[in-house]
Amino acid sequence: MESRCIEITQFGIPNEVARLASRAVRPPVGAEIQLRMVCAPINPADLNVMEGTYGTLPELPAVIGNEAIGVVEAVGSEVLDWEPGDVALPVAPGGLWNEWLTLRVDQAVKLPREIDLRQAAMLRVNPPTAWLMLHKYVRMEPGDWIVQNAGNSAVGMAVTQLAQARGWRVLNLVRREAAALQCREAGAAHVLVETEKDFPEHARDLLGAARARLALNAVSGESALRLANLLCDGGVHVTYGAMSRQKLSLPNRFLIFQQMTFTGFWLTGWTRETPFGAQREMYQKLAAEIIAGNLHMPVEKSYPVEEITSAVTRAQQPGRSGKVQLHW
Ligand SMILES: NC(=O)c1ccc[n+]([C@@H]2O[C@H](COP(=O)([O-])OP(=O)(O)OC[C@H]3O[C@@H](n4cnc5c(N)ncnc54)[C@H](OP(=O)(O)O)[C@@H]3O)[C@@H](O)[C@H]2O)c1
Repeated sequence: MESRCIEITQFGIPNEVARLASRAVRPPVGAEIQLRMVCAPINPADLNVMEGTYGTLPELPAVIGNEAIGVVEAVGSEVLDWEPGDVALPVAPGGLWNEWLTLRVDQAVKLPREIDLRQAAMLRVNPPTAWLMLHKYVRMEPGDWIVQNAGNSAVGMAVTQLAQARGWRVLNLVRREAAALQCREAGAAHVLVETEKDFPEHARDLLGAARARLALNAVSGESALRLANLLCDGGVHVTYGAMSRQKLSLPNRFLIFQQMTFTGFWLTGWTRETPFGAQREMYQKLAAEIIAGNLHMPVEKSYPVEEITSAVTRAQQPGRSGKVQLHW
């Protein structure tokens, strides 16, 4: 049997290097399960892997893909707690855009069968990033403010949904009006277009004297400074992405007189240092939020894997209304 997978043989421009390939499938043995993959989103990190600019890179040639969702087709002889038809979230590092995937049982999390598979395909990376950044740095109290840029991104939407459900207020910054509308339609209470002339006054009026206790930065450059300008003295500024590809450059006063903390978050670091049981618990908790309708990330379009070039081309473009997904 052959498996249709997405492969790169060199790093380069994403839509030029990602291609459909075919690899042999082997049956599961021992403590392994075999999944038939259903769908997968294309995230910025996947594009960075294709470019060769991500924090960890595979040896080439490589099947790529950092998240996807599958259904169990077969189990090895030592597997007692999985059966065909179970929904499996693979948490192995990379190589997940593969029609057939054989994994150890400690590389997959079982999810309730009623979960929406398109949403489940986006569970591994962005919701835990949002959850962990909301809990790791600041002990938030009801009514406290968080400010974030890329409010319409998948992480941004997850931050807003998880925070607002806990009584924390979120000021979302976006760079275009259509994205602001999209955030509001998804339930965001406070959204501003950060490039508008009167943005600083509007933002300060909204936050009042309290200012934000936590800033979440996915963009860097000028946008990271806009966030810092809205932080309270002693606030925490977390950089987890650099969509603008600009540097983070800071006035010294933020550190000296305002005693702010500037730090960074990488989910891969959390994955490396967190036992599998704790990871599984986090994913199951977030899956319950998806099933309850509390967590929802928009999908713009799903492409068959044969259309990988079109899918990656679209994923590279700004101004999307949601994730680009692949399906088998
Ligand atoms: N550190 C970690 O562990 C971790 C984990 C998850 C995600 N991330 C990072 O988080 C960021 C968001 O990921 P995602 O999957 O949520 O993204 P996404 O849903 O694909 O959305 C991309 C976001 O980036 C914005 N954007 C794109 N190009 C930009 C530019 N040149 N300048 C400013 N904004 C730009 C988009 O705005 P428009 O809609 O206006 O184009 C959109 O808000 C990425 O940088 C990703 O690598 C990091």
